[in-house]
Order: sequence, then structure tokens, then C-alpha cells
Amino acid sequence: MCGIVGVLGTHEVAPTLVEALRRLEYRGYDSAGIATVNSGRLDRRRAVGKLHNLSDLLVHQPLPGKSGIGHTRWATHGAPTEANAHPHQAGPVAVVHNGIIENYRLLREELAEAGYSFATQTDTETVALLTQHHLSQGMAPEQAAYATLERLEGAFALVFLFEGEDDLMIAARKGSPLAVGHGEGEMYVGSDAIALAPLTDRITYLEEGDSAVLTRSSVRFRDAEGQQVAREAKRIRMDAARVDKSGYKHFMAKEIFEQPTVLADALRAYLSPEGIHLGADAGLAGVQRITMVACGTAFYACLTAKYWFERLARVPVEVDIASEFRYREPPIPEGTLAIFVSQSGETADTLAALRYCKGRAASILSVVNVAESSIARESDVALPIHAGAEIGVASTKAFTCQLNVLYLLALETARLRGEIDAEGISERLDALRSLPGLFNATLERDDRIADAALALSEARDVLFLGRGLMYPLALEGALKLKEISYIHAEAYASGELKHGPIALIDKTVPVVVMAPRDGLFDKTVSNMQEVIARGGQVLLITDAEGAREADGETWRTIVLPDVPEDLAPMLYALPAQLLAYHAAVAKGTDVDQPRNLAKSVTVE
Ligand code: F6R
Repeated sequence: MCGIVGVLGTHEVAPTLVEALRRLEYRGYDSAGIATVNSGRLDRRRAVGKLHNLSDLLVHQPLPGKSGIGHTRWATHGAPTEANAHPHQAGPVAVVHNGIIENYRLLREELAEAGYSFATQTDTETVALLTQHHLSQGMAPEQAAYATLERLEGAFALVFLFEGEDDLMIAARKGSPLAVGHGEGEMYVGSDAIALAPLTDRITYLEEGDSAVLTRSSVRFRDAEGQQVAREAKRIRMDAARVDKSGYKHFMAKEIFEQPTVLADALRAYLSPEGIHLGADAGLAGVQRITMVACGTAFYACLTAKYWFERLARVPVEVDIASEFRYREPPIPEGTLAIFVSQSGETADTLAALRYCKGRAASILSVVNVAESSIARESDVALPIHAGAEIGVASTKAFTCQLNVLYLLALETARLRGEIDAEGISERLDALRSLPGLFNATLERDDRIADAALALSEARDVLFLGRGLMYPLALEGALKLKEISYIHAEAYASGELKHGPIALIDKTVPVVVMAPRDGLFDKTVSNMQEVIARGGQVLLITDAEGAREADGETWRTIVLPDVPEDLAPMLYALPAQLLAYHAAVAKGTDVDQPRNLAKSVTVE
């Protein structure tokens, strides 16, 4: 939620800020803005909507200066108007902010009493005004910023820029990610390494509670207690931060079609001829139960993994939505392994759930895409999914790569508990190694899937049905469709149909049935027949044998390659993603940046 960037540069900084914001736009796109210091003078430009509106504005109203800050917003407090767009300026200070200042009402009252007036509905404006107030009392910029930080409650990443201070930026992190980039005679700060990748590969990730005082030639860090600390700069892999569409029309299409490659890479990272190598003791030996917590698509990956852990390793698993888990205050029985799954590694509710489990669970394991993220760093062990940067707001390749790591964890747990012998593991790993090839074969069916999606795009409501391992995938298919095409979609376990949802069935409500020819297929076909008998139109996604048995009664059938039952959720994710993608393209929605959403949900 919200992307922030700051540059103390040696050239005109506006184009650099805009380029960095382009790389952060996936975090929010309600408005964008930049502020610079030029000849000591602080000035800013802001525009509502996508970043190109700001770029257009800068063509007509350039903003000179070699130091500056920038922001791309996902609105929390106050509508996405120009007044509410960041940077927020109060006299000689400008501020960009990601997060929520929870005590902003109190601060607003205090500031109002002191005679300050407000130009916005945002919580961030109080930060700028409070700092202005401190400056007016004679404090130096650094002192004023720290005096402000001391008063703030909530979650934030903040960057301050000051009038008359061309070589100073102050950054602070509490609950929202922030990284400092070290350049040649330049210094940068950004929400993530992706933003800074074209500028430098030397990054220091701020720890929770850290702040930093930056000049072009130096950076001083302080920890949460205000003590000066040394923080190491790390070299990041530039290819991991590559952000381009590689000839695809959308990031989402690119990310769907690169799944064979990224899965193969991920398998290489975790498999050797001898078996599974997690590279760390994930706390699987002696585990008595597992609690898995995540949000959205990552939650559906956990729901899928529950089937694997329970069936293969015979370990009882509870799966919870992070926002519910943390407030339910669940007891965590002894011997519990707590697993947190998150693409970004920054999702606020998942992070809070992780903190709740610290000291309660026997071990904390996370499955993340961003290896330097807060969730990764606060876990006992973090297993990267190796999906590479995911820019499309709808999660695709991260989902299949999350499933891959979770499947490996289930297999390894089963092996350690003696539930599967070496031969059984080896057979399953061989099957897994063939999955990238099956992904390719599935993606070759894109035209047929696109045809079906075109038909779906005319519907107002769509139902997804699945049984067993296909149930979480039905949920994921429905989420994908609604979030990018804005078609209302719901998913049910096939057996639940008769308990209510069947009342919705008529010829205007297509029903997507995800059912490989597995042990549950006959039951799902019966549910499908119940739909067809009521005039419902069934889009069946199955394999060749399933298609034969369904006997041409469906509205449409998409036939996928045969795949071992365990691995079907990974393969069947691809047509679910493609259906959503093509339906969204047909409807002309903003596929990579759907309305109201943001990629990294760092507020509750
Ligand atoms: C849906 C989607 C979201 C995320 C959810 C969790 O396509 O992307 O539902 O899965 O916001 O995000 P992470 O995985 O970053 O914790």
C-alpha cells in the first residue's frame, strides 16, 4: 500500500523519482506526487489517478531540483484527490508516508489548538504539521523529525525533506518496509529494492523501528531505542528486480506464461537427485500440528496445503485468514508449527498473526516471495518461493510457487514421520519435475480458454465448484475472476451446492467446474448434472478421461493434460488464471492495476 521513494542525487531528480514510482505503482495508484528542493526552495507536483497523469503534469510544469521525494498512493484516509495526494507539505517540510498514523485525531486536535489549519483529510498531514511546529520552535530539521517520530503511533514508513536542506533526507520505518540504497555520491530510499534497482544494487533494509539520516555521502542509522547502529548493505540480484512486460500486453499475462520457467527454477532450488533440500531446519521433525495463516490467494494456497499435510503426512492442520486469526486469540497447542504464507512478506495482518505466534508456537516458518521482507525476517525459517518479482496486482505465479514449496514441505514432513517411504517420495518428486512440461502443454490451450473466457465475460455472476483439492482452487478461480474482471464470482465445495447456492442456478449463471478424473470425479459429475438439469451452463475443466465421461453435456469443456492427483491444484491454477485474464481483457478493465486494489496490503 503506497510506494515511497527519495533521492539525494547529482542530476535533476524528477525523472528518477517518476521512474522509481513507476516501479512502485503496483503498491497503489490512486494518486502520485513528488517534491524537490531546488536552490533551497521546497516545491511539489501532484496528480490524481495513475502515474502518467503526474508525468503529463511535469511536462507542462517541470520541477527542478537534485533532491526529492515521491509517492504513489493507495487511499486510506481521505478520498483520492489532489489535496490528499502526497507529498504533504507544511511550510518548510514535506513528507511521504506509507501506513496509518493511528493517533492522528489526537494530533490533529493538538495542532488545531495550537492554531494550525488543515488542507487535507489525511493522517499524514499531521506528521508534516507537527514537524513544522517543531521547526518553528527552533529545532534543527533532524531534531524536529525525531521529535515528531516520538509522537507517532501506528504503522508507517516515512521520508522527510526540508526547505533549505538540499543534502538531507530523514527516513523512518515502523511496520512498513523501507530500504536505503547506496549510490556513487548519491543516496536513495524506497519502499522496496525493486524501486531502487536501476539506481543501485547496494541496499540496506531498515529493521523494525529503525530511522536513517541521509546525505549524499553518508547515512546514519538509529534503532528503535534511538541508539546509533551499524546496518549492513547487501548486494541484491538485479535480475530479481527486473520489471518489464517482455513483449506481453500485461504483467499478468507475462507472469502466467512464465510459470513453467519459474517453477523449474524453484524446483532446481529445492531438489537434488537425492531428494528435497530445504536449506534449513524448518522445524518439521516432531511437529504435532500445524497452523497456517495468510490472506487472499496465499490463504487459498494454505487451504490446498491442508489437504496435502493431512493426507500425506497425517498432521492435523488449521488454516486461518490472518485478519480473523489475530483477533480470535486462538490457543496455540504445544508442538505447533506456525506457517505464514505471503507473496509480499509485508501483509499487515499476516505479520501481526506471526507476531502473535512468536513465543507461543514451537517454530515459525514463512513461505515468501520477497526474501528480505518483514515476514521473512521475523520468522525462524523463511523459505523463498523463487517466483521472481510479481508486478500484476492479481497473484498468479506466486500462487503456483507457494503451492510448490508447501507441497515439498508436506512431502518432507511425511518422510520424517515415516508416512511415505523413499520410493514414494522419489515417485512424487519425479512427477513434480514433470510439472513445468505440463504447464507448457496447458498454456498451449490458451486459445480455447480465451474463447471460454469471452463467453464468461458476458455473465453478471459466475459460480465455481470443486471438490477435495479442487475446492480451494475453485475459491482461487472465483477470486481471480472477480478482482480483475469485476464479474461477481463465488466458489463452493461441490457438495455444498444443494445446501443453498443451487437456488442461484439459471441459464444466465455459468458454472465453472474444476474436476480432473480423480477419485471424487463421479460425485462432482453428479453435482454437475444437478446444475445442467436446472438449465445451468457448465464450463468443465478436466482431463481427457473426464471429458469423455462427462459425455458432451457441458456448455464448454477445457481439456488439460493428465496430472497426478496431488499436483492437480498447481496445473488447474493456470486455466483459472487465464479465464480471469481473458475475461478482464474482453471487458476492457485495467488488468494489472484493478480498481481499489493494491499489491502489498500493509494496512489492516
Ligand atoms: C489476489 C491477491 C491477494 C493476495 C493477498 C495476500 O490475487 O494477490 O489476495 O494474495 O493480498 O498478499 P501477500 O501474499 O503479499 O501476503
